[in-house]
Amino acid sequence: MPHAVRFDRYGPVDVLEVVEVARPTPGPDQVLVEVAATSINPGEIMIREGAMAEVAPSTFPSGQGSDLAGRVVEVGDQVGGWNIGDEVIGWTDERAAQAEFVTVPADQLTPRPPSVSWEQAGSLYVAGGTAHGMADAVPIDSGETAVVFGATGGVGSILTQLLVNEGVRVLAVAGPANDKWVRSVGAEPVHHGHALGHRLHEAAPEGIDAAYDAFGGGYVELVTGLGVAADRVVTIIDFNAAERFGAKTVFGYQVTSADVLADLARLIESGELTIPIAATFPLAQVREAYTQLAERHTRGKVVLLASAS
Ligand SMILES: NC(=O)c1ccc[n+]([C@@H]2O[C@H](COP(=O)([O-])OP(=O)(O)OC[C@H]3O[C@@H](n4cnc5c(N)ncnc54)[C@H](OP(=O)(O)O)[C@@H]3O)[C@@H](O)[C@H]2O)c1
Repeated sequence: MPHAVRFDRYGPVDVLEVVEVARPTPGPDQVLVEVAATSINPGEIMIREGAMAEVAPSTFPSGQGSDLAGRVVEVGDQVGGWNIGDEVIGWTDERAAQAEFVTVPADQLTPRPPSVSWEQAGSLYVAGGTAHGMADAVPIDSGETAVVFGATGGVGSILTQLLVNEGVRVLAVAGPANDKWVRSVGAEPVHHGHALGHRLHEAAPEGIDAAYDAFGGGYVELVTGLGVAADRVVTIIDFNAAERFGAKTVFGYQVTSADVLADLARLIESGELTIPIAATFPLAQVREAYTQLAERHTRGKVVLLASAS
């Protein structure tokens, strides 16, 4: 029988189990995907620990995960455009991606270009879609200066490259171990920690035009204090500060479509975007994967590899 990640109560990483499940059957407008790669995201930790139980409760036993890339192995009766054997990038809204087989609505998929690795393809939905949405939420012109907080994480590593591609000067806030990578994508490293506001002012004494917070923990307040207009600040995590200071927010699931995934895949194919893969784990090591992600020092994405990889 195929395997899938399950948890049957809120709690620490050891509530996660990899169990045998029935092979799912696609509905009329769905396809069945044999999963090759599914990346993991910090939001799933909050869900599993129960921190989002009021706004997004789990139904137990719960599966986990949204991002996926794999091969189509069955096609529902009413599905046109997809065939058995197609290699796809997509997502599920059912907290079900961390499995060997997942049913997916046919309109939540885009083809995987052959030059996009399984690991990168399986990393695109949450982090890529959210980065794309942040860039859309606060448009910025070529030649302007942006700061990206958490610039080397899952979301930030993609957003930083999207902005650099537009000719933006990007001050990329991360730790010193990431300096080389930050420079390699055309951004300028600025280290997090004590006196960050001073370092940002020194790096851009003429002022920062826009700020993109992909980390949380006070950065919205910091940049508004530095004089960045609130409508040019976006956060994906510090929602209280956004309300307090009038900054924008983005929820990846509200702004990501199959077209957005196709756009990101095309950028990878053309060499304009690279998703750094911090680590891969077999599905069976899902606990180890989340333990590493929870340290919040990964560069890019942590990815689970399943049967089709
Ligand atoms: N609203 C949404 O739809 C949405 C979607 C996706 C994610 N999120 C949220 O956005 C946040 C980022 O997610 P992610 O997957 O991109 O995170 P992540 O991959 O866990 O971020 C890790 C990165 O953060 C950097 N970092 C560590 N401490 C930092 C600090 N004090 N200041 C700035 N950067 C620091 C690390 O660099 P160093 O190792 O160099 O320190 C590392 O590269 C999470 O809170 C997540 O829940 C929200």
